[in-house]
Amino acid sequence: MANFPLPADLSAGTALSEIHTSIWDLLASSAAGNAPGWRLPVLATLTDHGCEQRTVVLRVVDRDHGALLFHTDVRSSKVEQVRKDGRVTLLFYDHDRSVQLKIRGVASIHQTDEFAQSLWEAGTPASLKMYSAPLSPGTQCDSFNHNMAESLLGRLPERYEIEAGRVNFCAIRIVVQSAEWLRLSQSGHLRASFELIEGRLDSADWIAP
Ligand SMILES: Cc1cc2nc3c(=O)[nH]c(=O)nc-3n(C[C@H](O)[C@H](O)[C@H](O)COP(=O)(O)O)c2cc1C
Repeated sequence: MANFPLPADLSAGTALSEIHTSIWDLLASSAAGNAPGWRLPVLATLTDHGCEQRTVVLRVVDRDHGALLFHTDVRSSKVEQVRKDGRVTLLFYDHDRSVQLKIRGVASIHQTDEFAQSLWEAGTPASLKMYSAPLSPGTQCDSFNHNMAESLLGRLPERYEIEAGRVNFCAIRIVVQSAEWLRLSQSGHLRASFELIEGRLDSADWIAP
């Protein structure tokens, strides 16, 4: 069973900053696919009628700027929601480590710039295939519909076969403003909050679990 690394002395003045570092370590390894833990967060966006949530894959962690990057289809409703109001939350849960992470941040959409292009180029054909879907995600259909050309269905495509989907691909970049960490344990739960400014830790506090 995997553990979330804890500082040797929880009452030391550096304990919270060590936990903050470990949070970013786990985010980075989750994005790299090395630790499934925080790979599949739930992204919540604001809409005119409240909030909407969906599962997304954490793709890249830009630690220097305190940012997290995701792939999405520019036609999906979350993109319009983020364009209207970039305030979002992310909820991660690592089942093995029993650690939850709540993030509040500001999201932006990147379709043609270097963020989007580098993610497109780094993506595998398997992960990018869905951007060749003929219909906008969420389109109502008369009958079941895989939203994928027959020629691409059920197989791993070659790179050249998915290039046409580039127009539908974009990156969501979320700059983290605050994080709240909760570690459940039989030996005692722990909870802490962190405020960030431009990727740097500004303040950290223990809070009651
Ligand atoms: C395990 C899993 C991973 C997913 N990863 C992504 C993702 O990385 N990006 C994405 O746009 N949608 C992803 N989806 C689909 C979304 O959850 C959602 O259904 C879709 O993006 C449409 O969302 P929207 O209509 O709220 O914009 C994933 C779904 C599952 C079940």
